[in-house]
Amino acid sequence: MDFPIFHADLIGNRAIIAVIATLHVLINHGLAVGMMPLIAAIEWHGHRTSDRRWDQLGYKLLFCAFLVTTTVGALTGVGIWLSASLINPYAIGSLIRVFFWAWFTEWLVFITEVCLILAYFLTWKKWTAGAAKTRHIRLGAALGLFSWITMAIIVSILGFMMDPGNWLSEHTLFAGFTNPIYLPQLAFRTPLALTMAGVVASFLAIFFIARADPFRAQALRALNLWTLFWAPFTLAGGWWYMSVVPETMRERVGTALLTLQFESWQSDFYAIVIGTVAFIYLIAQISVLRPTWVPRAAYLVALLAITWLTGHFERVREFVRKPYVIGQYMYANGIRADDYPLLKRDGVIAHSTYTYPLSDAEKAGLAASGHEQVQRGKDVFMITCSRCHTGSGVNSVITQFERLFGSGAWDRKLLADYTTTMHDLRTYMPPFPGTQDELLALSDYLIQLRTTGAAVPGAQQAGVGANPPAATVAARPRPQSAPMTERRP
Ligand code: HEC
Repeated sequence: MDFPIFHADLIGNRAIIAVIATLHVLINHGLAVGMMPLIAAIEWHGHRTSDRRWDQLGYKLLFCAFLVTTTVGALTGVGIWLSASLINPYAIGSLIRVFFWAWFTEWLVFITEVCLILAYFLTWKKWTAGAAKTRHIRLGAALGLFSWITMAIIVSILGFMMDPGNWLSEHTLFAGFTNPIYLPQLAFRTPLALTMAGVVASFLAIFFIARADPFRAQALRALNLWTLFWAPFTLAGGWWYMSVVPETMRERVGTALLTLQFESWQSDFYAIVIGTVAFIYLIAQISVLRPTWVPRAAYLVALLAITWLTGHFERVREFVRKPYVIGQYMYANGIRADDYPLLKRDGVIAHSTYTYPLSDAEKAGLAASGHEQVQRGKDVFMITCSRCHTGSGVNSVITQFERLFGSGAWDRKLLADYTTTMHDLRTYMPPFPGTQDELLALSDYLIQLRTTGAAVPGAQQAGVGANPPAATVAARPRPQSAPMTERRP
C-alpha cells in the first residue's frame, strides 16, 4: 500500500463497520436487552408457581445468552470502536467530543452490567430458595434494567447522527442528547428487542425441552405470548420513528433498501417485508393456540426472518442519513460542511492529515515517470470517495461509472463534470470538496485505474513514501493553515 489512509478495497470500508455493528446490534437486542427481562420473568414465574421446569429453562437460556454476549457481543462492541476509528476518525472524534460524559456514564453502566451478568449466572445454582431466590430474581431484573440503560444512551447517539436537532446551534451535550429522533427510536428498539428475545427463546426452547415432554407446549405458549404482547408496541414504535425521519431522508429509502440497481423493486420489497412480519406473527399466534402444530423449522425461519428484518433496518437507517455522517454537520467523507469553502479554495490534499505535499525531488520523480497527476488523483479518491466506494470491489467507482457511461472510452472532462454535480442527482453523495485541478486528477486516476487495474505503478520507487518518518515530515513545508486539526465538536 502506498497510501497511509485505511482502505479495504475488496469489500469496502462501509461493509467492515456494517458487518461488525449489525452483528453487535442483533446480539445486543435479541440476547441482552430483550432476553434478560425475559429470563428474569421466567425465573420469577417458576418461583411463584414452584415449578422447577421454568427455572431450568431460564438457566439454559441464560447460559446461551451469557456465552454469546460475553464473547461475540463484547468483541463486536470493541470492533465498532476499532473499525469506526480506522475508517472515519474525524466522525468518531466529533462524537466523542459531544457525548463524552454520556459515553463515560454508559461505560460505568456497562461495567455494572458485566458484573451483574456474572453474578446472575454464577449464583443461579446457589441462591435457590427463600430470600436468596428472591434476591436472585431481583438481580435478574436489575440486569435487564442496566442492559436497557446502555442501549438507551447509545440510541441517543444514533439519533444524533441522523438529526442533531438543536445541537447545530447550541453545541451542548443536552441539546445533542435530546435530538428529535431519540425518543421515537428508543420507543421502537425497546419492544423490538423484547419481541426478538421471544423469537430467539422459542427457537432455543425446542432444543432444551424434549418433544415428548408436555412442558414443551406450555413453555412455547408462554414464550410466544411474550412475543405477541410486544409485537404491537414494536409496530407502534416503528410508526412513530418513521414519522420523525426527515422528508429528505425518506427520499433515499428506495436506494437504501435495494441499491441503485434494484431500486425499482421497491414495492415488491415492501410486500416481502410485510409478508415476513406477518409470518413471524402467525407462527407466534399458532404457537399460543396450538403449540404442537408448529414444526421445528418454523421457529428457525421466524428467527432468521426477524434477524434479517432487524439487520436490514440497520442498513436503511445508516444509508438514509447520507450524505452526512453527522446530520448537517459532517459529511460521510469525514469533512465538515463548514470546511468546504476552504477546501474548494486550497484543495483537499493541502489540508489532509493523511497525505503531504511532495518535495520537489519527489515531484520530479513522479513527473518523469508520468504518474504525478495519477498519484494526486488517487489521494483525492481516497479522501473524497473511499469511505463509500472501492476501486475494484463492492460498490466500485469504476463499475458505477461504467453503468453511467458505458464500456467505451472515457473522457476526463465527462467524469469531472459528473463528479461536480453528483450530489444533486444522487443526494446520498456529498458534494465534491476539492479544486477543479483535483477533480481532473481524480478523473485521470479513475481512467488509469480502469485501464490498468493498478493505479500508480512504480510510485513507491518514485519516492511517494507512506507514513514518512517524523524527521522527514518536519523538514517538509506543511500547509500554513491547519483547520482540520482544529475541529470543534
Ligand atoms: C457517502 C458515501 C459516498 C461517497 C462519499 C461517494 N459516493 Fe458515489 N455512490 C454512493 C452510493 C451509495 C451509490 C449508489 C450505490 C448503489 O446503490 O449501487 C453511489 C453511486 C455513484 C455513482 C453512480 C451514480 C449514478 O447516477 O448511477 C457514481 C458515478 C459515483 N457514485 C461516483 C462517486 C465519486 C467519483 C465519489 C468521490 C468523489 C463518490 N461517488 C463519493 C455513495 C458515495
